[in-house]
Amino acid sequence: MGSGPSFPIVPMTRDKIILITGANSGLGYEIGKWSAMMGATVILACRSESKTKEAIVKMNQEFQAEKSKEISRLSENTTLALEFMHLDLASFESVTNFCEAFKKSGRKLHVLFCNAGMAFIPYQKTADGIEMLLQVNYLSHFVMIAKLLGVMQQSGPDCRILLMSSGAHKAVTLDLKTMNYSGPPDDFPSFNYYGRSKLYQIMQTAALGRRISGSNVTINSIHPGIVDTAIWRGWDTGIKKCLLCCMQCSGVAKSAFQGAKCSIDLTVNPKHAGVNGLYWVDCKIVTPSSDARNKQKQEELWETTLELVRPYLTEEEMKRINIEIK
Ligand SMILES: NC(=O)c1ccc[n+]([C@@H]2O[C@H](COP(=O)([O-])OP(=O)(O)OC[C@H]3O[C@@H](n4cnc5c(N)ncnc54)[C@H](OP(=O)(O)O)[C@@H]3O)[C@@H](O)[C@H]2O)c1
Repeated sequence: MGSGPSFPIVPMTRDKIILITGANSGLGYEIGKWSAMMGATVILACRSESKTKEAIVKMNQEFQAEKSKEISRLSENTTLALEFMHLDLASFESVTNFCEAFKKSGRKLHVLFCNAGMAFIPYQKTADGIEMLLQVNYLSHFVMIAKLLGVMQQSGPDCRILLMSSGAHKAVTLDLKTMNYSGPPDDFPSFNYYGRSKLYQIMQTAALGRRISGSNVTINSIHPGIVDTAIWRGWDTGIKKCLLCCMQCSGVAKSAFQGAKCSIDLTVNPKHAGVNGLYWVDCKIVTPSSDARNKQKQEELWETTLELVRPYLTEEEMKRINIEIK
């Protein structure tokens, strides 16, 4: 399976349900494909139906190619159990509709992989009045987790929430006063706000991890490395384009498959059952930045986040996510 840390092939049945946001490309595509190739049902929660349907066709083609290599223990099914569900993380209404539709289906939920993300974009405000990176990368996933935690708590042992974070969190510090950018659009420090959104995810991992500790649900976050995916599409001019070319040519940038290995391992490997509240790089537990580890700051972020998302959660959902720390 290529160099570097890897993952085992874990046979799963179709009643194992794995939900991945942004699974139509890049890292999410690989996590979804490999989980489905091991037998699970994978729900691709994405904003573009046509792109996702294309991805499903390609995943099935790649499944046939992998099977012909006779990699042992891949699913014996003829096609993969892959399903598109519409989700636009730039809209709390879309997140709410998505979660309602999922709950209505009566299905269990064993893995919720919050993978979708954006980077390197100019200032944009969502219809909900929130800076785009904050809402898409962090707040909407937070709302999804709050809405689907009840389903996961009823889905049997070893249910996992995984957050695709980034080493970019190290470039920033926590500043809650400027969490929702309100300065001049032209001065928007896009990379800083990307790093912030990823810092919030690691801090959420610790804060929610404390609250759900000892239950059937765990939460962990991951840095995949520098990975050659569409997320770099903003780097298409000048010095950034040169840097990107260098990263691609020198081998600094991993392929999507290489970058997804740790995430696939955390999704499927039974040895990670019960592991909770941690940050992972290359299949190893790693210490994040000092702000990310600061318990007081984690709790301040937790309270601020709850205030921001309160209008989009029911009282029951608020209570469930804000469990008293034991
Ligand atoms: N690549 C890296 O070097 C790197 C490093 C560290 C962390 N990460 C993280 O890895 C995750 C996956 O990124 P990637 O590198 O695989 O890039 P990617 O190929 O661009 O994948 C991003 C995914 O997020 C989806 N997405 C974006 N905005 C969305 C929205 N409003 N609603 C729903 N889905 C949305 C995209 O959908 P569309 O296809 O429709 O745009 C796409 O499926 C991100 O969270 C990123 O921050 C990546």
